[in-house]
Amino acid sequence: MSTSASPQRPKVMVVYGTRPEAIKVAPVIKALEADETLTPLVVVTAQHREMLDQVNEVFDIVPDVDLNLMAHGQTLNGIAGSVITMIDAVLEEHQPDAVLVQGDTTTVMGAAIAAFNREIPVVHLEAGLRSGDINSPFPEEANRKIVSQIARIHLAPTMVSRQNLLADGVPDENIHVIGNTVIDALHWAVERPTEITVPEISASHSEGRSVLLVTTHRRENLGENMVNIGRAMRQLATSYPELLIVWPAHKNPKVRASIAPQIEDLDNVVSIEPVEYGEFSHLIARSDIVLTDSGGIQEEAPSLGKPVLVLRENTERPEAVDAGTVKLIGTASDKIISEVSRLLDDKKAYRDMANAVNPYGDGHSAGRSVDILNDLLSDS
Ligand code: UD1
Ligand code: UDP
Repeated sequence: MSTSASPQRPKVMVVYGTRPEAIKVAPVIKALEADETLTPLVVVTAQHREMLDQVNEVFDIVPDVDLNLMAHGQTLNGIAGSVITMIDAVLEEHQPDAVLVQGDTTTVMGAAIAAFNREIPVVHLEAGLRSGDINSPFPEEANRKIVSQIARIHLAPTMVSRQNLLADGVPDENIHVIGNTVIDALHWAVERPTEITVPEISASHSEGRSVLLVTTHRRENLGENMVNIGRAMRQLATSYPELLIVWPAHKNPKVRASIAPQIEDLDNVVSIEPVEYGEFSHLIARSDIVLTDSGGIQEEAPSLGKPVLVLRENTERPEAVDAGTVKLIGTASDKIISEVSRLLDDKKAYRDMANAVNPYGDGHSAGRSVDILNDLLSDS
């Protein structure tokens, strides 16, 4: 597709590697494909394999280059080394005019360094998120700070992220507050008719059962914290037999090893493979409470009016916390149990949190990104 385009059209190389990046760049790739001036070159590192392919398939995106680098047991330095080396070769071959990366994964950090070293402008989508703790999320807080130092254009989702960038010394004129493209993706997904394929969830509505949706994967939660989360899930399922707990298990075997043995004999805990994004957005909408350590879900669930209990001590996404829809609860089993129980038992506490808020965008962020790319590349 894009490689055959006229050489006069500035080429924007979009690099991504994991599920959340794929979801958030998909609307930008679609907007670039529709743009009459720019040409996208879609490059995946495939730091994730199945979970990345699932998103590309939903959005009907076929990468131009697939580095296929995921390995089981991959290390941060292993991924970073491969990304820098392999992206460098792609830059040499395709000579893009700009490189767009999204977020804070090792793919993002490595691709940004590779482009910077070749003096190719880096455009950072979802720039300026900060937890203030370099070790949490690990290594994402460091990755995003590194990218902020070397990016030419910073596409910040909110005014809070803009302030964080200014505090890091990023020039004001290089920052654009555009909202978060996750909301573009979410709007697209919820408007698309999708069947919920898990029978227990489809039945839960007519049976009047509450649904607790759980996702976990953060590196700093691997080990003891993850075991605590599994213990809390077991206790909640036992204390509330009518509750349906749905756990789409991350592909990381370390996540599964800590949680699966604790819940596999329970009838009211359904563990499923990662759900394709279209269906997952409907699953959030069908759930009553979301328990997660995910970044993206902290942005999506508030938009759908779902209370989110975050299995972390801090967050780089304070906006929905301030709005009252997201609460940080950490990973102690007792705390998880008491916070979920409160929302299940106390209707007012539930209503107070279940407000739809949209601090992360209006669903038109991808178009703004492309306008800014056009401005950047209009002279190239
Ligand atoms: C990575 C990102 C994190 C992001 C998360 C999204 C970094 C440092 N971390 O997490 O920011 O929030 O992805 O989920 O970049 N696996 C598969 N198939 C898949 C995906 C993963 O089998 O499709 C397994 C592999 O064994 C892999 C392991 O999961 O080695 C961990 O994947 P990895 O990308 O290293 O995960 P994180 O770094 O924890
Ligand atoms: N997601 C999905 N299927 C699932 C679980 C999550 O499509 O089974 C989506 C979710 O809607 C969100 C993104 O994946 O957009 C979050 O990915 P993840 O939690 O892996 O990464 P993070 O956002 O924490 O970086």
